[in-house]
Amino acid sequence: MTAAGPLADSFGRVMRDVRISVTDRCNFRCMYCLPETEEAANFYRTKFDHAKNPAPATLIAREWKPRSQLLTFEEIERVMRILVSLGIEKVRVTGGEPLLRHGLETLIAKLARIEGVRDLAMTTNGFLFPQKAEALRAAGLRRISFSLDSLEPANFKKMTGRDGLREVLAGIALAKRLGLAPVKVNAVVIRGINDHELEALAGFARREDLSFRFIEFMPLDSGRVWLKELVVPGREILQRLQARYELKPVLSQNVAETARRWSFSDGRGEIGIIAPVTEPFCGHCNRLRLTADGKIRTCLFSLTEHDLKPLLRGGANDEQIADKLRCIVWQKEERHHIGEPDFVQPERTMSCIGG
Ligand code: GTP
Ligand code: 5AD
Ligand code: SF4
Repeated sequence: MTAAGPLADSFGRVMRDVRISVTDRCNFRCMYCLPETEEAANFYRTKFDHAKNPAPATLIAREWKPRSQLLTFEEIERVMRILVSLGIEKVRVTGGEPLLRHGLETLIAKLARIEGVRDLAMTTNGFLFPQKAEALRAAGLRRISFSLDSLEPANFKKMTGRDGLREVLAGIALAKRLGLAPVKVNAVVIRGINDHELEALAGFARREDLSFRFIEFMPLDSGRVWLKELVVPGREILQRLQARYELKPVLSQNVAETARRWSFSDGRGEIGIIAPVTEPFCGHCNRLRLTADGKIRTCLFSLTEHDLKPLLRGGANDEQIADKLRCIVWQKEERHHIGEPDFVQPERTMSCIGG
């Protein structure tokens, strides 16, 4: 481990990207994340082979973190300043649903002012975006990614547990008007739920000139009902889309990017395929995650977290926190073990980690 210089791990990867979760709460109940509805439970029940996989009796109810345990905006800003001094350049604000955090634009403004933050983005389900868009843009938000898993109102409700398609579409249109470019849209694909919509979603990307990413379902759901059979492999998604559209690969300079990208022949819009399950990209991972309650996660699938709160609230100086961060990053996991016999799903689910 080096005492100075950028944040490197023991496999030679250098960290440049931080995802900050600002709340573990969410106003949606997506079936791949925080499933709650009876419809979601019924779907998963039909997929379980009860002999091999005893299905959870109920979908797990969550307890939210009390406010006092969440990092304040000032604490988040301090951690970010230290991380930027250690080479972090990209920041993505996530949740739960980040727009549920009161006064989020104040945090965005603090982050936007940090010299060295080259990219400031947010991932949202979009439902509340129209109410907050102008303030976020004015505060310095530069990019945004929305979740949109379905264009059919009934299927949207089945997947997200909420009747919100109209609001999310309005949010996407508004983000484009405000120039939060490139506007990215993410769909988690679940076999038997929304895989019949692949072509329609890609058509939407082309029509609306969006960067639309199809994501393989990962075992990070609170119901712990993930099954390999529910994953539609990225290769299959691509084949389906190539059968309908003429697609050209987009060559990217950024090896740490999660998506393999393809553009349409007429140059409007593009699609991306994020295949962490069947084509892992851990070898180039440069991401760290800060949870709303002040823990650093070095991997989406980390089984250990590193609590910064005792340092932040116990009088440590910036140098001590920087040392701790170097030490944490050195221990970053080599890769995830999804699908292997030794895989253990982390206790925290995507709703707390933030994607
Ligand atoms: P930008 O390049 O900043 O736009 O970010 P991104 O392309 O990583 O996109 P985004 O942050 O929207 O992530 C999209 C999705 O990819 C997430 O919601 C996750 O499902 C998945 N993902 C992102 N980062 C990782 C990662 O480090 N590991 C794994 N396994 N999946 C990831
Ligand atoms: N698998 C893959 N992606 C997920 N997301 C949430 N849960 C999962 C999962 N189990 C992604 C969604 C959302 C982002 C916050 O995280 O696409 O856009
Ligand atoms: Fe990075 Fe972990 Fe994601 Fe692999 S699974 S890309 S190591 S965060």
